[in-house]
This record gives sequence, C-alpha cells and structure tokens, in this order.
Amino acid sequence: MIREQMLAAEKVKALEWRDKTLYLLDQRLLPQQEHWQGYKTAADVALAIREMRVRGAPAIGVAAAFGIVLAAYQHWAHNAANWQATLEADFAVLAQSRPTAVNLFWALQEMRDCIAALGDDKNPLPAIEAQAVAILNDDREANLYTAQLGLQVIREACSTPQHVMTHCNTGALATAGFGTALGVIRAAYLDGLVKCVHINETRPWLQGSRLTAWELVGEGIPSLLNVDSTAAHLMAQGKITWVIVGADRIAANGDVANKIGTYQLAVLARHHQVKFMVVAPSSTIDMQLESGVDIPIEEREGAEILYLGGQRVAAQINAFNPVFDVTPADLIDVIVTERGIVTQPNKQKMQALMQQSETS
Ligand code: MRU
Repeated sequence: MIREQMLAAEKVKALEWRDKTLYLLDQRLLPQQEHWQGYKTAADVALAIREMRVRGAPAIGVAAAFGIVLAAYQHWAHNAANWQATLEADFAVLAQSRPTAVNLFWALQEMRDCIAALGDDKNPLPAIEAQAVAILNDDREANLYTAQLGLQVIREACSTPQHVMTHCNTGALATAGFGTALGVIRAAYLDGLVKCVHINETRPWLQGSRLTAWELVGEGIPSLLNVDSTAAHLMAQGKITWVIVGADRIAANGDVANKIGTYQLAVLARHHQVKFMVVAPSSTIDMQLESGVDIPIEEREGAEILYLGGQRVAAQINAFNPVFDVTPADLIDVIVTERGIVTQPNKQKMQALMQQSETS
C-alpha cells in the first residue's frame, strides 16, 4: 500500500535520459526557475556535477553513468576501432568532478565492468546504455524499498506523529527516484507518523531552504525552515524526536560522511537523547575504507561563503569551506539501506550486511 502511495506522491525528477541525451534539472536555479538542459558529452556532464547543477550522491552516480554512455556513442561514431581506449579520458574527467560521494566512483566502475565484459562486441552501445538505465532503475527501486524499511524502524519505535529534523537535500532531487532520508520521511508522513519536518537551511549552498523545502512544500508535508544553528535550541526544547539524514560515503566501520553540519547534529542528538538515522543505498558504502578518517572531504571555493546571490556579504577575509564532515559510527542509532537495517553500526555488522546480500 505504502509503495503505491509513494509512487503517486512522486512529483520531482533530477534527471532524465531520452533521445540519446541526458537532461538535468539545473539545481543551482531552484526554486526560482525550473530549467532543464540537455547534455551530449561526458565533459559537460562532469562540469554539471562539479558546478552542482546535479548533486546528491546517488544522482551524481547516475549522471556519471550516462556521461560514459554519451562518450561511448561519441567515440564509437568517430573511432570505432579504438573506442574503448578513447573512453579513458572521459572516465578520468568524470572521476575528477567531485571527490566525496562514492556513488560516483561506484557507478563509473559498474560502467567499466560492463564495457570490459563486452570485449570486442560488434554492437556494444545498446548494452552500455542499458547498464546506465539499470543503475538509474536500481536506485529508484532501492529508494522505494529503503523508505519502507526506514518507516518500519520508526513504526517499531513510535506510535505517535514525530518531529523530524533533516539536513541538506536527500529527496527526489538527490537521487533517481523517491529519495533516501527524505524518502523515509515521506513514507512516514504517508503513514501518519510525521507531525512536522524541521529543515536545516544547510549553509552555504542552501540545499535545505532551496531544494528540500521546495520538495516537501510541493507535497503538502508540514515543514518549517530554520537556520542550521537552531538545532541545539530545538532539541533542548524537546521539539525534535528524530534526526534523519543521508550519506555521501559510509566507511567499513559505519562512519558516515555527509553534508557539513551532520556531525554536530549527531553530537547534539546523542546529548538530547534524540534518535539519529542515516539512510543510503548500498552503493554509498565503501568497504575499501576502514574508517571515516580515510574519506576524502571536498573543499569548495570560499566564494560560496563570502557571497550571497552574487553580492559580497563578508568582510575582506579568506574562507574555509569543507562541504562534508564525518559522523563516527557510535553516534548513529541506525543505518538503513535497501540491503537491510543496521542498528548501532560497527565493522562486523557492516560486513554482515554487505556479505549476506551478495550471496542471497
Ligand atoms: O553537496 P551535495 O548537495 O551534493 O551534498 C549532498 C548530501 O550531502 C546528501 O545528504 C547526500 O548526498 C545524500 S543524497 C541522497
């Protein structure tokens, strides 16, 4: 039942693949303008990722996969004999677009494996395109299933409508479908378990006030916007019962990299006995990295902090702008993925999650 309701509630899309073109909704312009633009080359897709026209870990991965499809079409047309070698430059430019979200590297590896398996197939393009479409469809399915698992966690813990805080944007705009953390929040709302969503504005790029607010208000989900530094005050007043966030990379021990400010929310949540849930597809889990210390943290231009709407607001000072932070696993109550639910995450439980689903 919830699945049908969720599908009916879907209104927003971040990207679309049609007529051998990747279309992206330009997230720099939302909510003032809904501008779709078509992309034909991997380099342009990489720039769109770098400039955050498309953002959010799963959506970045899907866009990169289609970047490789575009490159394959281009090189096959011009250089059929040597097309696989020519693709290397496109893999490199896409891999350099943003460093933290592991979904980008995961999706590129999926594309690489698919192309390697094709060998010298005389008609490789349909299979390459199908691989990117599968990455997109799998993310949609993962969103829908994960939302139901997250809802189950909330149902088991609570019987009355909850006050949820979320950070950044983890909705349809950040994925190929229903969203991760926002997917759980949506499903819980449809189930009558959300009273109000408190959206952190998410400085400096304002994913909360521009994107999450746009998605939730568009669906009539009761929400309030607050500045990021309101979190402690709200929790001290007992006004938050859950913090539900997404992830850009989860290390093998359950440490989670997510939008800057997530770590302080986890510290606050633990101090105020507020439950802390992380929601992500398993493509966000990086078992190669032992702990969060090893996760590369993107630093962006200081101008994102020094200027607002093109207008300088800061004094003549340099800015430090890391855009992700790492929440240690022991501050996380539960990680929810399409492979299952991990409570009090640690290395053994993360390993079991990844192994068990590979074999089942
Ligand atoms: O810099 P962004 O907007 O790409 O950062 C996005 C986040 O931090 C999200 O929380 C994360 O990617 C999960 S999206 C489902």
